[in-house]
Amino acid sequence: MSKPFPADDPFLHGYYAPLHMECDAPNLPVTGEIPKELNGWLYRNGPNPQFAPRGPYHFFAGDGMLHAFHVENGRVAYRNRWVQTPKWKLEHAEGEGLSGAFGTPRFSDPRIVELNSTVANTNVVWHGGKLLALEEAHAPFEVDPVTLASRGYCDFAGKLAGPMTAHPKLDAATGEMVFIGNAAKGRFTPDVALHVADADGRLVSSQMLQAPYPSMLHDFVMTRDWIIVPVFPLTGSMDRAMKGAPAYAWEPDKGTHIALVPRRGSVADARWFSADPCYVFHAMNAFDTPDGKVVCDMMKCQVAPLFPLPDGRPIADTYPMAQLVRWTFDPTGRSDTFSETVLDDHPGEFPRLDERFVGLPYRHGYFQASTDHTRSRDARNGLAHIDHQTGSVNTWRPGNADQCGEPVFVPRGATADEGDGFLLSVIWRAETNSSDLAIFDASQVPDGPVALAHLSHRVPSGFHGNWRGSVE
Ligand SMILES: [Fe+2]
Repeated sequence: MSKPFPADDPFLHGYYAPLHMECDAPNLPVTGEIPKELNGWLYRNGPNPQFAPRGPYHFFAGDGMLHAFHVENGRVAYRNRWVQTPKWKLEHAEGEGLSGAFGTPRFSDPRIVELNSTVANTNVVWHGGKLLALEEAHAPFEVDPVTLASRGYCDFAGKLAGPMTAHPKLDAATGEMVFIGNAAKGRFTPDVALHVADADGRLVSSQMLQAPYPSMLHDFVMTRDWIIVPVFPLTGSMDRAMKGAPAYAWEPDKGTHIALVPRRGSVADARWFSADPCYVFHAMNAFDTPDGKVVCDMMKCQVAPLFPLPDGRPIADTYPMAQLVRWTFDPTGRSDTFSETVLDDHPGEFPRLDERFVGLPYRHGYFQASTDHTRSRDARNGLAHIDHQTGSVNTWRPGNADQCGEPVFVPRGATADEGDGFLLSVIWRAETNSSDLAIFDASQVPDGPVALAHLSHRVPSGFHGNWRGSVE
């Protein structure tokens, strides 16, 4: 029987509470005017547990639910569907939750442990003619780009044996998708696979990089010439997991280690750099400089959010907040250190850019921000646009306790200048407990949305999404 959700978990209530339904809304009411150049699909993904979990819940462990906004000729249609993973299907058939967070054996039905299923809840990416729902511990899961019907695991014609990151990097010049697979040789192993799929979605290259210790490795960055793999001391341990201690925990003494791997070369030529402990969930971008240096713009926390110390105690009294910093590496030099400068002091997350400039020198970045600098997760409810050329940061925040989701940039057209286009964000309206798709002119973020498409229900707080243009 489907049991009530735990009353005491903040990630199962309010903005975070799961939807219990799937629906199709063919014509959303619109305020303002949908830009005529904006035609395509905005896909979003996030955790939306089908059933109450067994044992403690973790925000990263809920079943993935996709939300698709189809914008065409000024009309907006909406559809949401769970990703029907093996775990989702088994629990659906049984009519109850069978799994502890991350399928931990301590709380999960043995069938769940045996399935070792993805929850496919973190990102959704269009590449090689496939729409892939992603999380970082398993292979991608393919869904239909129009109906959102689940198709099954994508293993790149049998070539992908391990997991795939939720944050692949798409090279606009080559059409390649570059991605990592953390814990590539099994849970809590220190092996990081580096993969390349060509523009047609064929896996054409795979290498294995050995990290100094097993860790939660969420994102990486790429330039034209380098793949940058940062390893932070949010460690993973099977030993702890089997004892009922935290599977992932903060061990700052292990330090930060960052590998620069030549993109057209071998992991044998990797250069490792070291730094004080810190944690980065998400990077904005990276690029090569004319004098051979490598620049990485990272949303950096001093300590890891959302995870404890090895003995289960919290890392900090307050929720750790990230801010945007710039790291500069010299891969030709002799030093194993690198420089850091702060780019902006707004607490932020979910950094994005005009993705045609992934891996290239770029000017415009966007992120979810605490616009008044309040250092709390709920206060990080606005949007920011940083102009790296001028250093200026312009922000906008919704009223009340409303919350903006991750911003996604859409160019006005294929040949539009960098930053000329729209910024899309799904905004939760606290008072009505419903959500709007908000469309901004990306060069005028402080002016607020130029159009809103209104849902009558809430899109729960989720993670990431991407745009697929109608003509792609
Ligand atoms: Fe992420």
